[in-house]
Amino acid sequence: MRVESILGLALGLLGCLPNPVSAADILNGQKVYAAHCVGCHGANGQSVMPIVPSFSRGERLLQPDTTLLLSIRSGRNAMPGYMGILADREILDVIAFLRTLR
Ligand code: HEC
Repeated sequence: MRVESILGLALGLLGCLPNPVSAADILNGQKVYAAHCVGCHGANGQSVMPIVPSFSRGERLLQPDTTLLLSIRSGRNAMPGYMGILADREILDVIAFLRTLR
């Protein structure tokens, strides 16, 4: 067997292994934010209304991802819930994006 074919076999086997859980996709989070959140939370996370937290000032972001995920899923006071609109994966992507808005 030639070296190339052994290498090819090894790479092929690697491809069969289950993928590790992928890290949040910040660029996808940015798209989700632009489509669903920017109207209230504002460009660059600078809120456009007094009752809406400003992520650019780090407001509410001291909470863990899981807590924020639940708020975004179910909604919170004036904020609508996104369950059935966004997948948890997309919500986690957008949370990762919120954490870049400083
Ligand atoms: C209709 C306006 C509106 C939209 C659209 C909106 N939000 Fe909010 N959001 C709010 C308001 C108002 C609050 C403050 C709720 C409260 O605690 O009273 C809030 C709070 C939050 C919080 C803090 C929750 C907590 O537990 O403290 C997060 C995180 C958040 N929004 C993320 C998002 C994301 C991500 C999107 C888009 C998927 C989004 N919001 C869309 C109005 C909005």
